[in-house]
Amino acid sequence: MTHYSEIKHKLEQSPKKWLVTGAAGFIGSNLLETLLLLNQQVVGLDNFSTGYQHNLDEVKNIVTEAQWKNFTFIKGDIRDFETCEKAVKNIDYILHQAALGSVPRSIDDPILTNSANIVGFLNMLTAAKNENVENFIYAASSSTYGDHPALPKVEEEIGRPLSPYAVTKYVNELYADVFKRTYDFDSTGLRYFNVFGKRQDPDGAYAAVIPKWTAAMIAGEEVIINGDGSTSRDFCFIENTVQANILAATASKSGRNQVYNVAVGGRMSLNQLFISIKESLSENQIFYKKDSVFKEFRVGDILHSQADISKIKNLLGYSPTYDIHQGILKAMTWYKDSLA
Ligand SMILES: NC(=O)c1ccc[n+]([C@@H]2O[C@H](COP(=O)([O-])OP(=O)(O)OC[C@H]3O[C@@H](n4cnc5c(N)ncnc54)[C@H](O)[C@@H]3O)[C@@H](O)[C@H]2O)c1
Repeated sequence: MTHYSEIKHKLEQSPKKWLVTGAAGFIGSNLLETLLLLNQQVVGLDNFSTGYQHNLDEVKNIVTEAQWKNFTFIKGDIRDFETCEKAVKNIDYILHQAALGSVPRSIDDPILTNSANIVGFLNMLTAAKNENVENFIYAASSSTYGDHPALPKVEEEIGRPLSPYAVTKYVNELYADVFKRTYDFDSTGLRYFNVFGKRQDPDGAYAAVIPKWTAAMIAGEEVIINGDGSTSRDFCFIENTVQANILAATASKSGRNQVYNVAVGGRMSLNQLFISIKESLSENQIFYKKDSVFKEFRVGDILHSQADISKIKNLLGYSPTYDIHQGILKAMTWYKDSLA
């Protein structure tokens, strides 16, 4: 039995009450699904700014009726402190995902990104601290590595942020650290590296690369690569990210008050990704015949990103169950069923 299976077993024996912010979004709805399947009590908070009711509906269709009854949804905004206070009542663990993602969005509108990602974050952290919540886990980001050239990325060595989004995610880490030192409040930051999987939004100007390309290939449209395609990322399948959240929330004191990389520890270029998505779609009987189209590099993007995941392995017992290829294949089956 793996450490993760043991933890899940313990949670089933002794359910906890969780708050998932951003529950109608990609990562939040996947966390919600896993927690409900483990018979946990879950409160979800979301303002539907980038999340969808259909994500919640899909989770409802996956879990049993009894499990769905363990879920309470609050439609609200984390920028409103009273909403945060209401959401944290009697909560054991918080998985804080609500934020405005996307580097380009933050470049287009830094004030909006700041309000959700810093003001909203501070509201949630303060409400959680006032309520004496047992543990606060939050979505940090690999963008915090900024212009630091080292590969793979180790948690202690960061550079200067390359976008307003990266600033907001780094400020989250600073607040979390200062809340430990001034109020002795426990939290853990998970620096996600390009998460992908089912329910990641393929639409809109700020869609992430995997859902955006997948939707384009399914529709037979052009796939645009920003740069020459050598840009590389440590793409991490959603199941690994869910595992990291559950391990972090239930960690003993020695594993808390840290930031951890959450990834696989591999690296795939955009050119390789294009081929991998194309091949996985063809395994699903969707055949894409066009070549990719190259455009200029995007401002604010890091060229290469790859995580060193030894810290989370050693301190939290994390062990990714999906590599990039296995994840992409699983994700493509879902996109085919929902988009094709
Ligand atoms: N997807 C990735 O690769 C990735 C990488 C690094 C970090 N992250 C972080 O992970 C978290 C989840 O990202 P995601 O990919 O699921 O994005 P997402 O956009 O699908 O989910 C974010 C959710 O937060 C909600 N939200 C936004 N602002 C809110 C507000 N003011 N009040 C209440 N709800 C609000 C949105 O409606 C949405 O449902 C974010 O904090 C993001 O910055 C994601």
